[in-house]
Amino acid sequence: MKKHWWKESVVYQIYPRSFMDSNGDGVGDLQGIISKLDYLKELGIDVVWLSPVYKSPNDDNGYDISDYQDIMMEFGTMEDWEELLRELHKREIKLIMDLVVNHSSDEHIWFAESRKSKDNPYRDYYIWREGRNGKEPNNWGSNFGGSAWEFDDHTGEYYLHLFSKKQPDLNWDNPELRNEIYSMMTWWLGKGIDGFRMDVVNFISKEEGLPDDEPKPGKKYASGSRYYRNGPRIHEYLKEMNEKALSKYDVMTVGEMPGVTPQLARQYTGESRNELNMVFQFEHVSLDNGPGGKWDLKPLDLRDLKANLTKWQNELDEVGWNSLYFNNHDQPRSVSRFGNDGEYREKSAKMLATLLHMMKGTPYVYQGEEIGMTNVRFSRIEEYRDIETLNFYKEALNGGWTEEKTLESIYAKGRDNARTPMQWDSSDHGGFSHGIPWIKVNPNYKNINVEKALNDPDSVFHYYKKLIELRKKNEIIVYGKYNLILDNHRVVYAYTRTLGNQILLVLCNFYGGNPEVELPADIQEKKFEVLIGNYKDTQVSRIIKLRPYEAQVLLFNS
Ligand code: NOJ
Repeated sequence: MKKHWWKESVVYQIYPRSFMDSNGDGVGDLQGIISKLDYLKELGIDVVWLSPVYKSPNDDNGYDISDYQDIMMEFGTMEDWEELLRELHKREIKLIMDLVVNHSSDEHIWFAESRKSKDNPYRDYYIWREGRNGKEPNNWGSNFGGSAWEFDDHTGEYYLHLFSKKQPDLNWDNPELRNEIYSMMTWWLGKGIDGFRMDVVNFISKEEGLPDDEPKPGKKYASGSRYYRNGPRIHEYLKEMNEKALSKYDVMTVGEMPGVTPQLARQYTGESRNELNMVFQFEHVSLDNGPGGKWDLKPLDLRDLKANLTKWQNELDEVGWNSLYFNNHDQPRSVSRFGNDGEYREKSAKMLATLLHMMKGTPYVYQGEEIGMTNVRFSRIEEYRDIETLNFYKEALNGGWTEEKTLESIYAKGRDNARTPMQWDSSDHGGFSHGIPWIKVNPNYKNINVEKALNDPDSVFHYYKKLIELRKKNEIIVYGKYNLILDNHRVVYAYTRTLGNQILLVLCNFYGGNPEVELPADIQEKKFEVLIGNYKDTQVSRIIKLRPYEAQVLLFNS
């Protein structure tokens, strides 16, 4: 298996709006990020992934871009961005940018032109169709609720938007549009960035004819359609993008891909195929969805998580490469979701981190995860900001859900859980801003914050730091082969990694009990060292009795 820097890296995601506000307007910004780079260096991460900082009317917090080559006013200027890149590189941290090209903003000049007339040269940059019997051209649903089509009075046609109506889908079947995107990418690459995270990039090729799909039971519109996920020309477009832009630079790419399977990921990330380096898959963060989708709450069965992550580890082994994540700006906080954010917050945050960081793939840390930040429960819907959450709230109440049930779903799954301001210290608003933050800080900031974590050698932060260091020192963590053990254990997730004559054993107790596990026979007699554990006195014997949320990593040498 070939070695690459991006296989040996840990990526840290910054959601700029919520990271650090330098000028007191309540919105995080580039100078705010620059002021915190020494903190990131201390953590030891190698790459920063910056969520969108481009010009945007912020219907979806920057994922609706009105100019791909300019910076959002609230975040700063292009000079600030250049300074950020320089300051990161000075600290030997790489920068990957968010590439959002399945759709643009409706305020992008291309769309302003496109909607002017049917024969405008930009008309075909977007997906316009006539209505069907006075209604939408097909039954696809937007990922943010309602139809995926919006009628535009001016020319009497509908345009497709798989997200909000202010995010019209770009028409990738148009070669001129594709070339515009590749030259825009080349412009950023020329500035010296180190790669791209690509937003819903497996949605860019739509099935010819845009056929109707089957809606979920009880639903009017079909969501997550197979007719736009992993569509017919997707590999062609990715290869072309690679050839025309990416291949000329030593950069990393990660494609966000709802609905991707391991079989498809072998193609997207296959080393000889020249498409992408890795993908973000969604299966493991959908295991706690009921049949009605993400808002339909269902407890996680640990055995499902094991089966799923193991499938991904095995299927991509020696063929492609995995990205490893539990958190990002779209997911609830993992310590609340899969761990215990009460009594065992720190223990369970460390356990989850151990589980993920010892796997094969590139780990992603989302801002605040490294101090064990938790979900939030705002009592009033007016305190929420996310378009997806606000749309869901209205639709749920209209559909007969009680307010209480609706809020429970939002508490568990809403994206604002991840978007409350970064908690830097115990001063007002967690030290995020001198003004009034655009979204309220989590009230637990006095107890959970960076300042406290830095001062406590036993904190979640110092544990993450150690996990990151271990990856640098032990090749087995990067390249060792993964093997699940204790397959059917209900409460312990255990696996090994093997490289040469070394075996790494990872034991994670997922719950608050005291399960006993027996060391695998083939390593019982071998010499070992404890690499890391989330209890001070890691005890090892043939039968190991684990404590609540205990994680242990043992390295055996023969
Ligand atoms: C995925 C992004 O991560 C999410 O935040 C955004 O709303 C959609 N794509 C649309 O761009």
